[in-house]
Amino acid sequence: MTQIRRLFVCTNQKSGVGEAVAKALKKELKMQGLKKLLVGGERQQVRVQTCNCLDLCKQCKKGPGAALVVYPDGIAYGNVRPADAAALVGEYLGRGQVVKRLQIEE
Ligand code: FES
Repeated sequence: MTQIRRLFVCTNQKSGVGEAVAKALKKELKMQGLKKLLVGGERQQVRVQTCNCLDLCKQCKKGPGAALVVYPDGIAYGNVRPADAAALVGEYLGRGQVVKRLQIEE
């Protein structure tokens, strides 16, 4: 069975940064070959989805970037900019290391 891991990116900012972040994440997943992962012997697919407010607005529309949450991991990131996509994909999805500088403690 293939498990689906979803990155929900808020696009509720006037700047449009959330859309740009989602696009950058999709591009990085493709470039780094991580759209499909093998984690603990199980297959996973990674999908990036845009959504409305995640109730993390302090780290979203009040800053330079967007908020996003990773399901089912329960990890939230804030003020994510398109330039952060490579680190989120490579470090977090690829190597399983939380990107501490962007992580939000809820
Ligand atoms: S506006 Fe993005 S989390 Fe609320």
